[in-house]
Amino acid sequence: MNVLEVKKLMLDDLSDVTDLKTLNDLRVKYLGKKGLITELNSEIRNVPKEEKKAFGQSVNEVRTLFQSNFDEIKTKLEEEELNKKLESEAIDISLPSTKVSMGAPNILEKLIEEVEEVCMSMGYDVVDGPEIEEDKYNFEMLNIPKGHPARDAQDTFYVEGEEILLRSQTSPVQVRTMLKGKGEVPVRVICPGKTYRRDDDDATHSHQFMQIEGLLVDKDISLSDLKGTIDVIVKKLFGEDVETRFRPSYYQFTEPSVEVDISCFNCKGKGCNICKHTGWITIAGAGVVHPNVLRMSGYDPEVWSGFAFGFGAERMAMLKYDINDLRVFYNTDLREVKNFDRKELKNND
Ligand code: DAH
Repeated sequence: MNVLEVKKLMLDDLSDVTDLKTLNDLRVKYLGKKGLITELNSEIRNVPKEEKKAFGQSVNEVRTLFQSNFDEIKTKLEEEELNKKLESEAIDISLPSTKVSMGAPNILEKLIEEVEEVCMSMGYDVVDGPEIEEDKYNFEMLNIPKGHPARDAQDTFYVEGEEILLRSQTSPVQVRTMLKGKGEVPVRVICPGKTYRRDDDDATHSHQFMQIEGLLVDKDISLSDLKGTIDVIVKKLFGEDVETRFRPSYYQFTEPSVEVDISCFNCKGKGCNICKHTGWITIAGAGVVHPNVLRMSGYDPEVWSGFAFGFGAERMAMLKYDINDLRVFYNTDLREVKNFDRKELKNND
């Protein structure tokens, strides 16, 4: 093929191009190793000397022409491709959006934070204790010696032999705190945390549940200090018009011991389902710290006295948020979790 023929074919080819792939194939066809323009170039050898210059120039012209056409078409095709892509990917903002499922803070956690807040405002520290506990702290130093029938009631999970267990109550943190305090006063702590008992899970029982333990040790602390403190917490959580009453009870680590009832915040004492028509709801165990417990933890009961209390966190949250199955705190069903928000809103109305 001579130069003119190549030029003509090339211009024909280029005018037909509608996509980038074909365009690139043309580059190979004309400028590749065995391309038509490349071949013209190598023919210069066979051209008589006096025509070499003109021949070379005309081949160069064809090459330049190809290149400028190629560039122009390439830009045009790329632009078209981009426009097509933008068009196909355009977002239709009138379409309804996909709903993103969101949870809400667990209200058990929220309730605990509320108790922490009230207690901190009264000068309490929030402390932690181990969930894998020693028998000595969970029982022994709380005045519950080996073989004591009270141990049965707590139906404990043992981890190793008879000495290491999953704490069945948060009360061991009382002992740990006093030991750490080394006789210093005042001791003023609350400890919210997980506890474990060998219970079958149902609407009101769980093998793992939360307690909020409180302990205060100082001079001349009495049952009325306990009552005043519990009153503040209860009013903050359930409403200013809620009243507290103590009923005699028995715990090994307190003497006297009480059961804490609050007047039913729902029916205001008239009687309803929540208070089982008694007008009162039990929410905690409490009492004056037993002298033996003080002594074993390094505080002289002749000099110091204290009170302690233990709230059942799930029970309080169930009452406050009108929940009738304890298991909802521990499952991850977003429909339930979403309800938490609604329940809280309702509660704040
Ligand atoms: N630890 C008790 C329980 O699990 C609750 C309790 C009662 C804690 C009286 C206390 C207390 O601190 O003084 O049943």
